Order: sequence, then C-alpha cells, then structure tokens
Amino acid sequence: MAHRIAVIPGDGIGPEVIAEASRVLTRVGDLDLHPLPWSADHYLKTGVTLPPDGYDTLRSFDAILLGALGDPRVPDNRHARDVLLGTRFELDLYVNYRPVRLLDDRLCPLKAKTRADVNFVVCRENTEGVYVGVGGRFKAGTDDEIAVQEEVNTFKGVNRIVRYAFEYARANGLRKVCMADKSNAMTHGHALWQRVFHQVRSEYADIEATHLYIDALAMFLVQDPGQFQVIVTNNLFGDIVTDIGGALQGGLGMAASGNIHPGPSTSLRASPGMFEPVHGSAPPLAGKNVANPIGAILSAALMLEMLGRVEDARRIERAVEGAVHAGEVTRDVGGTLGTSEAGAAVLRRLA
Ligand code: NAD
Ligand code: IPM
Ligand code: MN
Repeated sequence: MAHRIAVIPGDGIGPEVIAEASRVLTRVGDLDLHPLPWSADHYLKTGVTLPPDGYDTLRSFDAILLGALGDPRVPDNRHARDVLLGTRFELDLYVNYRPVRLLDDRLCPLKAKTRADVNFVVCRENTEGVYVGVGGRFKAGTDDEIAVQEEVNTFKGVNRIVRYAFEYARANGLRKVCMADKSNAMTHGHALWQRVFHQVRSEYADIEATHLYIDALAMFLVQDPGQFQVIVTNNLFGDIVTDIGGALQGGLGMAASGNIHPGPSTSLRASPGMFEPVHGSAPPLAGKNVANPIGAILSAALMLEMLGRVEDARRIERAVEGAVHAGEVTRDVGGTLGTSEAGAAVLRRLA
C-alpha cells in the first residue's frame, strides 16, 4: 500500500524546496502526499498555528516532510514553536538524525579535505535541553529585567539518545562514537551526560568512545572532521554543530535531517518521523527561485529509507550525486541553476 505522507511546506523558501522534493517523490511513486497549510501565512490569516487535533492528524501519517518555519512577521516564532518543536516534542521524536556527507570534493570549504574526511552523523537530542521553554522573564523591558531559561536534562532523555548513537554505530559497522557536552562549566546538567555516557560506553566494548567539550568539537569539525563517525550531543549544541556540518557539505542548502522515534527493534515506525532540510526559511532568498533544493530532496530520500524503501532512497541519492558532479546545481554550491531547474536536474537522472 502507498505510504501516506503529510507535507508541510511552511515559510520562506520552504515551499520552493518542498515542491522539488515532492516532484522527486511523485516520480519515485507509490506515495500519497497530503499538503498541510501550517505556516506563518496561515497563522496570520486564521490565528491558528495548528488545529487542536493537529498532532493526532500528524500521527495518522506514515511520515512527515517539512520545509521550514520562521517568518519575520511572527517575531516570537510562535507558529514554529507549535508546528516544528511541538511535533518533535508531542510525537516524542527524540533523535534528530543529521548526516554530514560531502558529495563532491569541490564543495568542501576546507583546504585539501575530500569526501573521505567529511562523512559522519550527528545524533542530536531532540526533546529536551533549553528547548523545553522552562523559564520566564521578570520585570521584562526594564533595566531590572531577569530572564531565565532552564536547560532540562533527564536520565531518560540522555540515556536514550546516547544509546541510540551506540546502536546506530554498531548497526552500521562504524567504530567510533564521540559525545560532546560542556560538563566543565555546566556541572549539574552535564554531569548527567557524563554519568550516562560512561555507563553506556562500558556496554559497547566494540565501539571506541571518546568525549570532547563542545567548544573543542567545534574546532575539530573544522580542523579535522575525518576523525568523526558518530557524534552525540544535546539539543542546542546539536543545532549549532549541524550548521557547521552544513557548511562542510558545501552549504546549508545541502544538509538533510530526520526527526525520529526509533521503535523497539530496528523498525523506525513507532511514531511517524518528520524529515526536513537542516536549513531554515531563509527570508532573503524566498520567492526568487534561488534556494538549493538538495537538502529537501535528500531529506525525502532519508524518509523513504526510514520507511524501508532503501532502494528508492539510494536511487534519489545517486541522482543527486549525478547532478552535483555535473555542476547542475544552484548558485550557492557553484552552479548557475534556479531551484526548479536544479530539481529538474535530479528528476532527469531518476528517469
Ligand atoms: P537559514 O537556514 O534560513 O538561512 C541562513 C543562510 O543560509 C541563508 O541566508 C542562506 O545564505 C543560506 N541558506 C539556507 N538555506 C539555503 C538553501 N536552501 N539554499 C541556499 N542557501 C541557503 O537560517 P536563518 O536565516 O538563521 O533563519 C531564518 C528563519 O528560519 C528563522 O525564522 C529561523 O528561526 C528559521 N529556521 C527554521 C528552521 C526549520 O524550520 N527547521 C531551521 C533553521 C532556521
Ligand atoms: C533547526 C532549527 C530549529 C532548531 C529552530 C527553527 C527552532 O534551527 O531545526 O535546526 O533550533 O531546532
Ligand atoms: Mn538549526
């Protein structure tokens, strides 16, 4: 039976890159794509970010494909909080799986680094940390203002993401997991990361487990990315290092991701995953047919892979690589094509 996919194009360049990813999915076939209008426009028009049964609606699909949410007309980012972060939280999509894979040596901004040097996965904790919104402002807008935003770390949350990283490494024949935290400064919250990491690593003797403070990780990602295979870190640090990861792949427009809740076995179907490019809505680029659609297309491929359609996913990845090698890409990665022409270059190679 055809997989049912909820499609949330969102804001800015989101609809443009999702249009290309949708064309690719339609070509691959055997999918029902259901567009959902949740976006800044929709919120500003209706006052509703997503309806009260919105998360249940999403749960009824096999997977979710999302563009980006964020619009200067919604300065408090309310709709993105509800639709994007809300879905991560409500569907308990605790793994933000962000592969960092260079497709062509020419795209790497680092001197003398090749595809062999940029090929790792970041497992970003996706349901807690500073993102939970615990805190508040006191005497807001005055010179006495106090603003507090707590970072929440739970044993359950840390344990499951760290275990996922080790399981992922083992299942994929990888030998190295690096955990990054800031336990030298955040001596309460990140002491928990240390405790869990030391406990879990002792159960995976076949995996070389290392630890870096997050600042050192940021440095090594630029200086020597080849040492990494699997990185596991918290929600905020994972957000930041995966933008660095985007740059290592040639630019943010190249980077794909999946928000997933792995099931009890290798099946990833416990909750529908949500797949999205790592980049945002890039307001300055919106409506100009210049955004790179590859991150969105590779996110759609990742979605198919996680739905068990591995051969279809590989076909899309090969088509993307072909277009990249031929230089049939957008300007941000050295080409001359517009968004829809770059999408067409991938489509042609799927024929
Ligand atoms: P951004 O990722 O939207 O863009 C930063 C810069 O990266 C752009 O100006 C552009 O130079 C480049 N870029 C990003 N995507 C590109 C693409 N597909 N093709 C070519 N170049 C690309 O980050 P931002 O400017 O910090 O954020 C803009 C809005 O997007 C904000 O509202 C932010 O909150 C939101 N955002 C949403 C998501 C999401 O929905 N998952 C992710 C990140 C940011
Ligand atoms: C991302 C984005 C989001 C995040 C923002 C839009 C809240 O940057 O998906 O990387 O921080 O998770
Ligand atoms: Mn981000």
